[in-house]
Amino acid sequence: MCGIVGYAGPDEALPILVEGLRRLEYRGYDSAGVAVMDGGVRVVKRAGKLSELEDALRDHQTPITGRTGMAHTRWATHGAPTDLNAHPHLDCRGRIAVIHNGIIENFQSLRDRLAKAGHRFISETDTECVAHLVEEAYRGNLADAVREAVRQLTGAYALVVTSAEEPDVIVGVKVSSPLIVGLGKGENMLASDIPAVLQKTRTFVPLAENQVVEVRADAVRITDLDGAEVPLSPMEVEWDLAAAEKSGFADFMLKEIHEQPVALRDTLRGRIDSLGRLNLDDLRMREDQIQDVHKVFVVACGTAFHAGLVAKYAIEHWTRLPVEIEIASEFRYRDPVLDGHTLTLGVSQSGETIDTLEAIRHARHQQSRVIAITNTVASSIAREADGVLYTHAGPERAVAGTKTFVTQMVALYLTALYLAQVRGTLFPAEISDHVEEMQGLPDLVKRVLSLDDQVQALAERYQQARDVLFIGRHTGYPVALEGALKLKEISYIHAEGYPAGELKHGPIALVEPGVPVVAIATECHVYQKVLSNIQEVKARGAEVIAVATEGDVEIGRVADHVLYVPRTHELFSPVVVTVPLQMLAYRIGKLRGCDVDQPRNLAKSVTVE
Ligand code: AGP
Repeated sequence: MCGIVGYAGPDEALPILVEGLRRLEYRGYDSAGVAVMDGGVRVVKRAGKLSELEDALRDHQTPITGRTGMAHTRWATHGAPTDLNAHPHLDCRGRIAVIHNGIIENFQSLRDRLAKAGHRFISETDTECVAHLVEEAYRGNLADAVREAVRQLTGAYALVVTSAEEPDVIVGVKVSSPLIVGLGKGENMLASDIPAVLQKTRTFVPLAENQVVEVRADAVRITDLDGAEVPLSPMEVEWDLAAAEKSGFADFMLKEIHEQPVALRDTLRGRIDSLGRLNLDDLRMREDQIQDVHKVFVVACGTAFHAGLVAKYAIEHWTRLPVEIEIASEFRYRDPVLDGHTLTLGVSQSGETIDTLEAIRHARHQQSRVIAITNTVASSIAREADGVLYTHAGPERAVAGTKTFVTQMVALYLTALYLAQVRGTLFPAEISDHVEEMQGLPDLVKRVLSLDDQVQALAERYQQARDVLFIGRHTGYPVALEGALKLKEISYIHAEGYPAGELKHGPIALVEPGVPVVAIATECHVYQKVLSNIQEVKARGAEVIAVATEGDVEIGRVADHVLYVPRTHELFSPVVVTVPLQMLAYRIGKLRGCDVDQPRNLAKSVTVE
């Protein structure tokens, strides 16, 4: 949440900062602002999307020049999205500027104290108190003043601070929220996420917890909160700028839907040997540790939670280990029973979702072994877990997760089969059959993408719906949840996902003539029961859109519309079935004129609790 970018180098900072913001806008788009060291600190900020800031910069009477600066795109927490509440925030003399991602939990008491001491506040944000704390602590060294300010803060945040007194340096600090340093040649950058620095470099250093960084054109210095220097450990990112562009597609979401076959192939690559056996050394678990697992927990949020639900079916079926899946924000507050025999899987595209991060911290604290399933190299969750399995989906810019959802499921299937392989709960031949089936998924997804014309027709018919229900059983249930979430996020139509058998226990009261019900009705051991549930809603006037297996003639007799998808193993079917639902949400969102890449009120990476 909130995008941060900083630059120090020989080039004009402003265009680099604006370009960085453009690449981070998915992190928040309520308002945006820049601060450039141009004599003093020159700040321009505007409510609204980045284009508003760009217009303001264009209209500015005196051009802003300077080779050091920082910029911010906001997802509002404290204070409405207004010009005044936009970042950067300044101290009383306008000499120190601060941008911030996260929440300062004790801001009110700090603000009261600082106001009493004579500091002038002009915004409603928690961030502004940091500018005044740094002002108070400044004695000729900005990094020291930031350290001093941080000692007084509680919360989870990343901060970047500049000062007119030291115009060649930007100082960053990470306390739970992400911050990376992009290392260039004679120029360096600071950002909350990799896409912002790709314009200059693919080499980066992720800051660890409680580290402070001083970024200059010719030097980067990382220290801890006591000022002790920490050696740099640079890493290379495989992504390039093209991977983060729309490449001819109308929107990132559409591009990312179409990238799913490649993303699936990349996630499977290198994890299976020539005999069909799995090789998951990245999990960093010895065989005896795997044998010793008595129970598995899965923690995640939103779409990643739905991938975790699918994993529960697979892990329990293939390993016979009990699996508990929990929304990450609830997990640590209910005192779950964890110990050295539990394995916790933290699933997160960004690797920075604070709820998931805190959940895995809690699990580790209770001695559980933790494995991260994430798309983001060196993210906080990846670094804090004992082992990590990366999904190789590439950068996902649309706020709605699509390609990362299907790759999360595949990474979780790989993990489940690997546990089964080591624990001997499946025969080697069964594992290689499943692996072979998984390797066919990219082609099946490619075939599903050709349903677009049919999906468009359905979208035109149902674009004005007030409510849409999604129902499914077994692995069709998480797919129903995901289909409903996508539709809500992208089109703002009220949608709910339910286990199909649960409808008659209450939600069926919502069904009235003409209500669209999307039923996941692919071949599986509960297919006949799903058909009965479809009959129940039909009897009450619902219009049923079924997603069914190619060749199924029975479904045509009960459903009003059928989207046929290719046959696959029922545990793998969510990968295939989800795709037309993503497309339906996308097409309806477009017809309703919604900003499908940046839906209202949302941000891609949720770094506040
Ligand atoms: C997906 O469409 C969502 N926008 C959201 O639910 C997301 O999956 C959730 O916030 C978790 O994010 P993560 O995978 O980065 O942890």
